[in-house]
Amino acid sequence: MKICCVGSGYVGLVAGTCLADMGNDVICVDVDENKINNLKKGIVPIYEPGLTDMLDRNSREKRITFTTNIKEGIQKSEVVFIAVGTPPDGDDCANISAVISVAENIGRYINGYKVIVNKSTSPVGTLDKIEKVIKSFRKNPSVKYDLVSNPEFLREGEAIKDFTNPDRIVIGVQSKKAKNIMASIYDGISRTDKPIMFTDIRSAELIKYASNAMLATRISFMNEMAQLCEKVGGDIKAIARGIGLDSRIGPRFLQAGVGYGGSCFPKDVKALIQTMKSNGIEAGILAAVDKVNEKQKRSLIHKIKKLVPTLNGKSIAIWGLAFKPKTDDMRDAPSLVIINQLQEAGAKVKTFDPEAQKTAKKILKGVTYCKDPYTTVAGCDALVIVTEWNEFRDIDLKKIKQLLKHPNIVDGRNIYEPQEMKKLGFNYLCVGRK
Ligand SMILES: NC(=O)c1ccc[n+]([C@@H]2O[C@H](COP(=O)([O-])OP(=O)(O)OC[C@H]3O[C@@H](n4cnc5c(N)ncnc54)[C@H](O)[C@@H]3O)[C@@H](O)[C@H]2O)c1
Repeated sequence: MKICCVGSGYVGLVAGTCLADMGNDVICVDVDENKINNLKKGIVPIYEPGLTDMLDRNSREKRITFTTNIKEGIQKSEVVFIAVGTPPDGDDCANISAVISVAENIGRYINGYKVIVNKSTSPVGTLDKIEKVIKSFRKNPSVKYDLVSNPEFLREGEAIKDFTNPDRIVIGVQSKKAKNIMASIYDGISRTDKPIMFTDIRSAELIKYASNAMLATRISFMNEMAQLCEKVGGDIKAIARGIGLDSRIGPRFLQAGVGYGGSCFPKDVKALIQTMKSNGIEAGILAAVDKVNEKQKRSLIHKIKKLVPTLNGKSIAIWGLAFKPKTDDMRDAPSLVIINQLQEAGAKVKTFDPEAQKTAKKILKGVTYCKDPYTTVAGCDALVIVTEWNEFRDIDLKKIKQLLKHPNIVDGRNIYEPQEMKKLGFNYLCVGRK
């Protein structure tokens, strides 16, 4: 199948590469010339485990190419995936202007039957808007197309695995022809236990938001339970295990921490709240989920102040900048909030992240970037763990104690055991555990 992926970011590039690896001919399009030039040279603009190797292989075998020429991408393809960004606008709604711009180009350049697949997370009703735009820009009204909503559920850091081995593939589609084409694209990866779910377009659009909102709800719920544990005694990790063993609940997304971040949960929860509002529904649950998360991101500073009451002039080490491990994505990362609070209090921040430093340098100023976890803590008044990279689990804690000026650790991800930390002589605070 000849496929065009418009938008070569975390989703478009991973989807394009995996679709090429499945034997399709893929053209990846992006408006970012620098990104496309780099991709042509084999330079992958994001950190995603396994992506560079898979991309190299498929580029060599000429199954994937890169261009800024959207006309060429559209005209040479039978299926066009839209995978551009939908960031929040000023009112917390999803900004779908990039999706609409792609739809305009599809209308302009469509030269025969195509399946147009929206993978960008976009509010319910977006496919109707895409349809209107294509119709108004289409030069030849007899050219046919079908519209499909195929939301993406991949997680950064696990993106290749998630794309090639997803829990489910959701496809909102009206026409039989488009349904068959989509089924044949995903033929290699759908199995009985991991099915393709065909549904109507609006349900598919809503499933994506409902999934992220449900996962965010679990996280905020556990963060609120963690607050209670800290007041009354109790261990949030035991509670996560205790409720997670209930098969009606399941164990995932029950970890308390510094709050959720990233390019999806915060913006998708807020956008769903706005969709509800604009339809006259009070988003009671989701408003609380969002509020608890904002509070959680701001709560770590209180723990830091318990150990270092006067932050002015003090040095604080931060381990982890990315919003989660195995990615370099800093969008809405809790580290941004925490570092900002520390700087406002007059603290000097030293930091290390295995992959996100390059991205961070574009956003965070006045921070000292270090080459490894050990040099980061040297001479610091406290260490704060914000992202749970494996590098930090497997660390020489005795050496860390020697390097720190004061043995203070605030662990925002509960990666160590409080008892052991006490034995090692640390003043150790974590989330929801005594
Ligand atoms: N990142 C994730 O983990 C993830 C997971 C599931 C769904 N999503 C959703 O997928 C969509 C894409 O997310 P992402 O993380 O890949 O974003 P991204 O910012 O990494 O990539 C978007 C790309 O689209 C390009 N672009 C913007 N406007 C364009 C246009 N008019 N024509 C061509 N290219 C254009 C940008 O230059 C950028 O390279 C979003 O709606 C997001 O919510 C993201």
